[in-house]
Parts: sequence; structure tokens; C-alpha cells
Amino acid sequence: MSDHATLILDGVQHELPVLEGVEGERAIDIRELRERTGHITLDPGYGNTGSCLSAITFIDGEKGILRYRGIPIEQFADAPNFVEVAWLLIFGRLPTAEQYTSFAEDLTRYANLDEGMKHHFEGFPRSAPPMAILSAMINALSCFHPELIELDDDEQFRMAAARLISKIRTIAAYAYRHSVGRPYNYPDPHLRYVPNFLHMMFSQPFDQRVCDESVRDALNLVLILHADHEQNCSTSTVRMVGSSQANLFASCAAGVCALWGPLHGGANVAVLEMLEQIHQGNITPEEYVRLAKDRDSKIRLMGFGHRVYKNFDPRAQLLGGVAERLLSGLGRPDPLLDIARRLEEIALSDPYFVDRKLYPNVDFYSGIILRAIGIPTNMFTVMFAIGRLPGWIAHWWEQRQDAAARIARPRQIYTGSPQSDYVSMAQRI
Ligand code: ACO
Repeated sequence: MSDHATLILDGVQHELPVLEGVEGERAIDIRELRERTGHITLDPGYGNTGSCLSAITFIDGEKGILRYRGIPIEQFADAPNFVEVAWLLIFGRLPTAEQYTSFAEDLTRYANLDEGMKHHFEGFPRSAPPMAILSAMINALSCFHPELIELDDDEQFRMAAARLISKIRTIAAYAYRHSVGRPYNYPDPHLRYVPNFLHMMFSQPFDQRVCDESVRDALNLVLILHADHEQNCSTSTVRMVGSSQANLFASCAAGVCALWGPLHGGANVAVLEMLEQIHQGNITPEEYVRLAKDRDSKIRLMGFGHRVYKNFDPRAQLLGGVAERLLSGLGRPDPLLDIARRLEEIALSDPYFVDRKLYPNVDFYSGIILRAIGIPTNMFTVMFAIGRLPGWIAHWWEQRQDAAARIARPRQIYTGSPQSDYVSMAQRI
């Protein structure tokens, strides 16, 4: 195969290098394009633009493949352990028993928030969106850990990463407790990552939340399946902010904001709202799908479609199975699961969805699992953020260590008015 591409512009021939990734994906390297030709490329939404070289996650959207550091995500499903996967993504290999224990102990040690930070929650209205609180509080961590703003070596980075992964669940749980007017639960050092989070969310002074094994495994898997997805909108945001040398906390806080939108992480809330609407009898699944196909309706089948996957999203397939097993194991059938299955069935036999290669994505079934665990709908995107955090951290660090990394600064094609003169206010008409 050719190792260069030929571009002919204004009759002049330019040779551009072609790069190949380890899985055979190919890219035309245009790093010198503007310097050599005076032209830029235009790619709104970046559907054809590679922003970096990365060794963290591989996706083949045509074949429905997702691998973390080379390991297919299906292999994490039998004994799901989010902390182990977080380490894998961030540090590049599965942890040894010693590394795992030490990291898990760090997560326990760092789970508390500074008491000063607790007061910030009081300032938010009860109705504040938890994603706003999450972003603000992650950013605020840099005020409480100024020693971790500059990360000079691996050890400092490890401490910052562990603090962030540990504290995000405390922040998330406190945001929820504040919204329902309940006292904050301090983290329990005897509990592991997921049970501790559920304790902080739901325990009452008179009623300790005990985490069932099936719930623990389901939530671990949900978090794992959200843990990274290469250059998605929020991860690219983290990289974009980090490229200015902004600190880890600030960069991840920006990632939370990007994730919030309904076309990204916010879709899991939109899916639940869609299913509820159908369940309440406001609209039938058939009618909903019909509206989703109608350009004028502005309705989309939420949890369907993906920029990269043009086949089944492997995360959706796993989560569909988890939803079935969890609900039947808990003896809590949920009519929303039946509605989701029905929507999937209708859409996947409709040429509109088949031709456009629109399949259920990660958000289609995740909400049903979270609902079964008792997580309120307005916390769904927060759960996504807890899961995605290791990916953001891994990308931030990969970029920070890349000697060739530059500040991210796209260009544009200007379409405004040509040069014109300033007119004083009295002379304006
Ligand atoms: N329902 C109905 N039609 C859809 C849907 C959908 N969910 N998704 C895409 N389409 C249609 C579009 O209208 C378009 O049709 P056209 O060719 O006739 O104009 C075609 O499929 C291509 O869609 P785009 O919007 O161009 O695809 P893009 O890659 O830009 O967007 C996205 C991908 C945002 C995920 C889109 O599929 C969508 O809006 N899905 C619903 C929201 C959602 O589930 N988001 C979560 C994504 S996963 C994640 O971020 C974690």
C-alpha cells in the first residue's frame, strides 16, 4: 500500500505522508499542509480528523469492536472490577496484585472531601443540576490540592489520579444528598469502590445500604463500559483544555461539561424520558419511531446512532444482557425494558435505521440498570462521568507526556463581512 498521498492543487503536486496504526487504520498526515500549500482542511464535527496518536483505546466501528489497551471489553464482563480497569487505562497494563491493592487503598484513603469543601454544596439550590455541581466541585479540588496543580513526575500524577477517581464519587453522592435534603454520609473505609458509593448515596443513620453482589457487579460493569471511548466529545474537550497546560482537575471539570449535553452523556437521561413517555401512554413505540424518522419533528430515537459505530455498539449489547439479568435477579421486572426491546425491534427492521446504520448505543440500556439500582434519573449522566473519568485522566496524561503535543488550536474559514470602517454612533443608521 502507498505510504504517501498525492494532492494536486492549482496544478502543483504535493506528496503527503500516509500513516498506519497497529490495527491498519490509515491517515493522511496533513501536519505540513498549510505551510506547503497555503490551504487548510475543513471538517466540521471532525468526522474525518485525527487529533492525536493514542495507545489507550481501539474502536472498529464497522465491526463493533472496542478494546482497552488491547483487551476486548467483553473480557471484563465475568468479574467486573472498575478500579482494575481504571488502572489499566491510566497506566497502560493490568495492575499486579500489589499495585492493585495499593491503588485500592489510596482510593479508600482519599475518599473524604476537605470539610471546607462540604460548605460549597450548601450554596447550591436544592434543584441544581448535579452535573453543574460535579463540574464546579472537580474544578474546586485544585483549590484544596494546590500541590497537585503542577504534576512533575509519575508519583505525583498517580496521587492526583487516585484522588480524583476516589473523590468524584463522594462529590456525586453529596450532590445527590444535598438535592434531597439528607445529611452527607462520610465514606466508609471498609467498603470498596462501588459499595462505598452506594452507601454514600443511600445509607440513612438508621438504615445502612448493603450492596447486593449482583448490583455491585452490574454497576462495576456499567462504569467499565463507560470508562473510555477514545476521542469522543468530552475526552477531546479534556485534551483540548489540557493542551493549554491547564491542570488535571480543570481539564476534567471541562470534560464533565462536555458530557452533559443530550447528544453525548446526557442521552441516557433522554432515553429514560423517552421510555417513560411511552410507558405513560402518551405515545406508542411505533409512533415514536415514526416521529424520529421525520426530519420536521426534531425528535430522535434517543440512545440510537453513533458517530463511530456503524454496527452494534458492543457496550449496548452487554448492557442489554445485564439489564435482563439484574431485573430478573432482583425480582423487579421493569416495563421500560420491554419498551426498549420493542423500540429496538421496530427500529432494526426499519430501512431508515438499517440504511443509516443506526444501532442502540451505550445509553440505550444503561438507564434501565441505573434505575433498577435506585439511581435517580437526574444522576444518570453523573454516573457516566464517574465511569468516564479514568479515560479522561489517561488521555490527559498521555498528551502531557507527548513531546510532540501542541496547544490545540483549529483554524476556520472566515465568512463574515469584508473589511469595513468603524462608524461613530451618531452617524449610524
Ligand atoms: N434517530 C433518528 N435519526 C437519527 C438518529 C436517531 N437517534 N441518529 C442519527 N440519525 C439520522 C440523522 O438524522 C441523519 O439522517 P440524514 O442522513 O437523513 O440526514 C443520519 O442519521 C446521520 O446522523 P448524524 O446526526 O449526521 O450523525 P452524527 O454522527 O453527527 O451523530 C449522534 C451521532 C449524535 C450520536 C446521533 O446519532 C444522535 O443524535 N443520536 C441520538 C442521541 C444519542 O443517543 N447520543 C448518545 C451517543 S453515544 C455517547 O455519546 C455516549
